[in-house]
Amino acid sequence: MKDLFVLGIESSCDETAASVVLNGHKVLSNVISSQIDIHTLYGGVVPEIASRKHMERIDRVVKKALADAGMSADDIDVIAVTYGPGLVGALLVGVSYAKSYAWAYDKPLVGVHHIEGHICANYIEHEDLKPPFLSLVVSGGHTHLVNVADYGKYEILGRTRDDAAGEAFDKVARVIGLGYPGGPKIDKVSYDGDPTAYAFPRAKISENEYDFSFSGLKSAVLNELNALQMKGLSYVQADVAASFQQAVVDVLVTHSMAAIDEYKPECFAIAGGVASNTHLRKAMEEACAQKGVRFCMPSPIYCTDNAAMIAVAGYHEYIAGNTSGWDLNAVPALKLGQR
Ligand code: KG4
Ligand code: ZN
Repeated sequence: MKDLFVLGIESSCDETAASVVLNGHKVLSNVISSQIDIHTLYGGVVPEIASRKHMERIDRVVKKALADAGMSADDIDVIAVTYGPGLVGALLVGVSYAKSYAWAYDKPLVGVHHIEGHICANYIEHEDLKPPFLSLVVSGGHTHLVNVADYGKYEILGRTRDDAAGEAFDKVARVIGLGYPGGPKIDKVSYDGDPTAYAFPRAKISENEYDFSFSGLKSAVLNELNALQMKGLSYVQADVAASFQQAVVDVLVTHSMAAIDEYKPECFAIAGGVASNTHLRKAMEEACAQKGVRFCMPSPIYCTDNAAMIAVAGYHEYIAGNTSGWDLNAVPALKLGQR
């Protein structure tokens, strides 16, 4: 088959990103313009500011991605863009830009599901990885245990009933004074803490053993801190962080291993921003090794939001014949597997 160069564009939350990927795995450029410094001032992502920043940056980001890859727009074969789920105003910037670009340069356009992108990030560094496999997607907005039956064919085995894992990290970090974004900060500070200092709950959902719930854990942390405060006692930030993180990691590993027992996949792959958590990576790797199941994880830079993963997902959608029309729109609550 002829070489296929895909330009990926991502703007679903607070990262404006563009990337050129060859044949679905070779990353030629990966440009990410993060807005974290701006949103940190407000303690979380402000949607209106995110849209405006995407508008200001997208053209430069795409041009840099082409320049880094040593290519011009004419050399690109396909334009892939995230069209959901995410913040509608933020998504619209990427979608509108991608449509104009594809129209102007007469290239096929492929709308990509953001979570499909996260899962596909695993193909970048694991060239031999092929469906079927099981995947745990843990990000700021999603916590999904997915059976990747084939390219573009996803069966959701379990999902969170309330907060996403990343959301819980961010909220707890704020409460214990670590600030936004909480995930990487809790990850780091936990090395100085005792993960057994507090016995925080590990929620189980009786109707579906693969579903998750993190709001009870978040409340348990809050209650513990309030109780200490009322007694005039202080707490060790690193101990709270480490104990909270251990509870999240335990739940993610337990659910994943139960799914491995039932589905007996050849490979288990993690994805999404929380998949860059060093404690989770180690725990999953050990648990999979015990089960004798191959474990895959993207490098941290391909776990958090990026456009290389969107280009990879776009590549697979394109070769499956799934292109989008000029009516492609942002779909903030897009379901996985829906086109
Ligand atoms: O995938 P992502 O970049 O964006 C979404 O699609 O949501 O995920 C962002 C989430 C945030 O909640 C952030 O705190 C979390 O991933 N995160 C982490 C780590 N790095 C990012 N959580 C735990 N440990 C980390 N090292
Ligand atoms: Zn994401």
